[in-house]
Amino acid sequence: MMRRRSRATSVAVLGLSAVLALSACGGARSSGSGGGGGEDQTFTIKFSHVVAPKTPKGQAAEKFKELVEEKSDGKITVDVFPNSELYGDKDELQALQSNSVQVLAPASAKFTTLAPALQVLDLPFLFDSVDDIPKVVSPDTPAGKAIFENQALADNNIKVLGLWDNGLKQLSSNTEMRTPADLQGLSFRIQPSDVLAAQFSAWGANSTPLAFSEVFNALQQGVIDGQENPYSNIESQNMHTVQTNITESNHGYIGYVLVINNDFLNSLPDDLQQVVQDSADEASDYNRKIAAQLNQDAKKTIEDAGTTQILKLTDQERQAFKDAVVPAVWDQYRDVIDSDLIDSLLAQK
Ligand code: LMR
Repeated sequence: MMRRRSRATSVAVLGLSAVLALSACGGARSSGSGGGGGEDQTFTIKFSHVVAPKTPKGQAAEKFKELVEEKSDGKITVDVFPNSELYGDKDELQALQSNSVQVLAPASAKFTTLAPALQVLDLPFLFDSVDDIPKVVSPDTPAGKAIFENQALADNNIKVLGLWDNGLKQLSSNTEMRTPADLQGLSFRIQPSDVLAAQFSAWGANSTPLAFSEVFNALQQGVIDGQENPYSNIESQNMHTVQTNITESNHGYIGYVLVINNDFLNSLPDDLQQVVQDSADEASDYNRKIAAQLNQDAKKTIEDAGTTQILKLTDQERQAFKDAVVPAVWDQYRDVIDSDLIDSLLAQK
């Protein structure tokens, strides 16, 4: 994994931004002697996310906490807030920019308003199998570089620390879904991404953007008919208990962009900035090692619960879903995502 050192900044500027950060935000606090500066200074990172602790993101967040606290010799404390406890989909990016929270790992689709090009990870059928994910979503691939170097994120004081996986999405509803025609007229909850709306529309279905924390209730109350998520999210939110059918379509990807408030990062002493990046790199490796297994475990829990019939598409059936959206939906978003990047991804298919 590449080591990323933040751009060399003069000690004077760092010192000033640390003072500003201390006075302007809750991200850092001083402790011990020395009037709030120097060797004894300690910092707190709030890390907010919307999923359950046992999921690939939840587990990686805990690993990041453990690594940062250990490598910084306790100079940085990381407080992790799962399950939209502190901030949810609708306010977490705003909270990051105002430094009310320092670290987040939203799914790519959650950046659509701020940095629409990140929807590259939402393109339907970007992967045929989880084994293909690292070839496309890693810091040194064209898609990875486009995310790390995204100008809109930089302009909004957001720095990318890593790319995390959940896994491949499955469709759930209360009817059997074997062909796109079976989705006709059904209404699916989507993350707030235009690419995802186009995907469902190409299958003849309707879509409604809703925050993740609202999905279970919306399914239970019949406000929507179905949704798409990897098994780990379906199981940990108990969605399967209110959905009679899952189609194992592996039609899309949920990947996370681990981000930090850039001013906060720059307010840390150089060695602690490196601790944060090293911990992010190690937590990213850890996430990739555990993600696929956690989704397999969640699938087994759903099977054992006996609430939901899981339909595995044949290659031919899956191809019918794919033909309706590739390359049509990909072509529709060339201007938003980057036409050359789309071409390079299509060439890999
Ligand atoms: C969703 O909203 O369905 C996902 O992005 C939730 C998550 O963070 O995995």
